[in-house]
Amino acid sequence: MCGIIGIVGREDVADRLLDGLKRLEYRGYDSAGIATLHSGIIDRRRAEGKLVNLGKELSSDPLPGSIGIAHTRWATHGAPTTSNAHPHATDEVALVHNGIIENFKPLREELQGRGRVFTSETDTEVVAHLVSEAIEAGVLPEEAVKAVLPRLHGAFALAILFRQHPDLLIGARLGSPLVLGYGDDGETYLGSDALALAPLTQKIAYLEEGDWVVITREGAKIFDKDNVPVERPVTLSGVSGAMIDKGNHRHFMLKEIYEQPVVVAQTLKSYLQRMEERVTLPIPDFDLGSIRRVTIVACGTSFYAGMVAKYWFEQFARVAVDLDVASEFRYRTPVMEEGGLALFISQSGETADTLAALRHAKNEGQKIAVVVNVPTSTMAREADLLLPTHAGPEIGVASTKAFTCQLAVLAALAANLARAKGRLSAAEEKDIVRHLAEAPAALNAALAYDEMIEGMAHHVAAARDVLYLGRGTDYPLALEGALKLKEISYIHAEGYAAGEMKHGPIALIDDAVPVIVIAPSGPLFDKTVSNMQEVQARGGKVVLISDYDGVQAAGDGCLATITMPKVHPLIAPLVYAVPVQLLAYHVAVAKGTDVDQPRNLAKSVTVE
Ligand code: G6P
Repeated sequence: MCGIIGIVGREDVADRLLDGLKRLEYRGYDSAGIATLHSGIIDRRRAEGKLVNLGKELSSDPLPGSIGIAHTRWATHGAPTTSNAHPHATDEVALVHNGIIENFKPLREELQGRGRVFTSETDTEVVAHLVSEAIEAGVLPEEAVKAVLPRLHGAFALAILFRQHPDLLIGARLGSPLVLGYGDDGETYLGSDALALAPLTQKIAYLEEGDWVVITREGAKIFDKDNVPVERPVTLSGVSGAMIDKGNHRHFMLKEIYEQPVVVAQTLKSYLQRMEERVTLPIPDFDLGSIRRVTIVACGTSFYAGMVAKYWFEQFARVAVDLDVASEFRYRTPVMEEGGLALFISQSGETADTLAALRHAKNEGQKIAVVVNVPTSTMAREADLLLPTHAGPEIGVASTKAFTCQLAVLAALAANLARAKGRLSAAEEKDIVRHLAEAPAALNAALAYDEMIEGMAHHVAAARDVLYLGRGTDYPLALEGALKLKEISYIHAEGYAAGEMKHGPIALIDDAVPVIVIAPSGPLFDKTVSNMQEVQARGGKVVLISDYDGVQAAGDGCLATITMPKVHPLIAPLVYAVPVQLLAYHVAVAKGTDVDQPRNLAKSVTVE
């Protein structure tokens, strides 16, 4: 999604702004731009498409100036053209914006009624005109921003430059994150996340909802939503430039797939007490015993992790679970019992739909649990029970290591819930600890099939449609496999509960549709194999992902088989995530798509 960086510097800033934008590329974008102040004017360079285009603009027509703002745009209002790219500017102000100004239409009409001329189709441009109008009327920048902010409905992070004030940058946040960075040499920075600022500084202050900040060369003054001066703690972000390196891997996605044994182990370390053979939570005295119903809400890959958790919570703790995609949750007027647990799962902790759902559940008297990978995110800060994953920064747009870490945390939560409900004996808990502790080694073993999967990826790369089938916790994995494939290879893929295939999707089966069957040997294996045979009977080409026993029993007649290590059903969703990730990855590479930044997608979707 859109990214912001701003520098109030000592030397020319354009190169560093471009560098900052490169670090934001992972969020997904389709145009970009930079504005600086120099020679008494606001000057901009903007370009459609990738940053290399903006880089070319800057090389042929360099942008001097020691104060500037920059933006990567993920189009919402108006196509990804140069004229819609940020910064948006008048003669007096230039600004960049993340989020959506929901009331932009009436504001635009009002401004046009006063003769203001718009040069883009964006919602953002109204903000530039509103601030500019005030400045042109002689209002000082701080007062202008203070007056305009309450007029904006929706979500925003803003960074604004003023032509007549060459040492002034004003930032504001409501619903979209914005961080302030302090340089050692008196420079100050704004960024949509700490990662963008990592090469500049690690000294970060996170603006809170409704905060706005006035930055000059003398420093930064923060105001809260009531315009009262406030201090926000300065923390060391801990993200270094090196952490977003691809290492020896061709893509971030592959690097992140390979990191899974280590990051899952790191995550489990905070939830498993190996010596005591206990599964614990970061807040050990959080009252889970009184929870009678759990509502799980998330988007995308995180939603599929939630779907696996639903099976676990119901099976182990016998607690009823409601499960919703966040964008639907609020609008179906869900029934929530006072004191129920609402569980939100998010890699970024900033996804607008999930955040809105969280706030809705909070208003409905729910206790809020959050499984999140970014500990400084908005969701993390609004949780009653914060359950961090320790996946480290995930750069590939298609989520991989965050998913398996989420599963690790959710398994630990299921065990805690079961114990609190009196449904887990000490011996059962010991078994869970043992099985979860085996996950990192099993993930490693699964990665050994990388080359083999690469070798068969061409079968899938040639297809127009692909079906994924699974039962039980392999059903959410089928959905996740299909999501991974469509996200990065652009092949149409559907995930189905294996038993549901005969109720419709079977009509699609012919010898051109590969069917990926996820079926570890176990109680549901025979049923899934029956569905697989229904596919084969109709000429369908099956890729069976199972363990040695499963492949021996049912591998004959398959187009290909992928043999996973034999693992306990509890950790199977983590282990079987690896082959579906690798398959999507190698198919995408075979098709030559942009694996880490697939078209139209954003890493963290901060608009509803
Ligand atoms: C976007 C990403 C998905 C991700 C989803 C939820 O759509 O492209 O990969 O699963 O957002 O993101 P979250 O950060 O809330 O897990």
